[in-house]
Amino acid sequence: LTNGVENAKRVAAFTAANNFVQNGYVIGVGSGSTIEYAVERIAERVEAENLKVTCVPTSFQARELILKYKLSLSDLDRHSKLDVAIDGADEVDEQFTLIKGGGGCLTQEKIVAAAAKKFVVIADFRKKSTNLGENWKKGIPIEVVPMAILQIQNKIKEKYGGICTIRLAKSKAGPVITDNGMMIVDWQFDKSHNWSEVHQFIKLIPGVVETGIFFNMADIVIYGTENGQSDIKA
Ligand code: A5P
Repeated sequence: LTNGVENAKRVAAFTAANNFVQNGYVIGVGSGSTIEYAVERIAERVEAENLKVTCVPTSFQARELILKYKLSLSDLDRHSKLDVAIDGADEVDEQFTLIKGGGGCLTQEKIVAAAAKKFVVIADFRKKSTNLGENWKKGIPIEVVPMAILQIQNKIKEKYGGICTIRLAKSKAGPVITDNGMMIVDWQFDKSHNWSEVHQFIKLIPGVVETGIFFNMADIVIYGTENGQSDIKA
């Protein structure tokens, strides 16, 4: 199964890099494990086809990836409009609403995706769902200012119920600190919601930096299937 999943990630990522990257493009580079295959393939194409591309990272991890593959690194100050942004997701529903932030990088991912003419999501078959939350059981990641965390947890629970946990680090005692110096609350909900409304409510709570609900942002979703095919949805 593990190989099937890795293969599905690779197929989705390679399909994005082959079909949605062109010479001269400024590319938003997402975070997570699937995007690594996309960057690998972009670097291969740059070498083989002598492409000129520029990459804008969505995280510390993405920046390291761009440097590792010796691609040209930029930022939103130098390139305010991107041709395409490519990124993974934790879950994708039929309306292309996404849960993102499993790796803690949601805010910069959303900023970069919003700056792109086209946002291409790459995902293995496990990410596809009909109701958000049916596959990604860890809840919706919300990036928050640390001193507001209890206020935010209480307001979300009062309004929508569920459980709000502070994401804890694996290799240190204490919380995960994001690339922006913030903390992450994972909100596990117990029923299906109107995600646009939920996003707006949570986003307006003082101290919330961003939510991991990406509503109306993805233009293309490329799934890697269980038998190693790519399935492009637009
Ligand atoms: C990072 O914070 C996330 O939004 C990732 O894009 C998401 O978790 C996908 O990661 P994988 O490609 O590793 O599944």
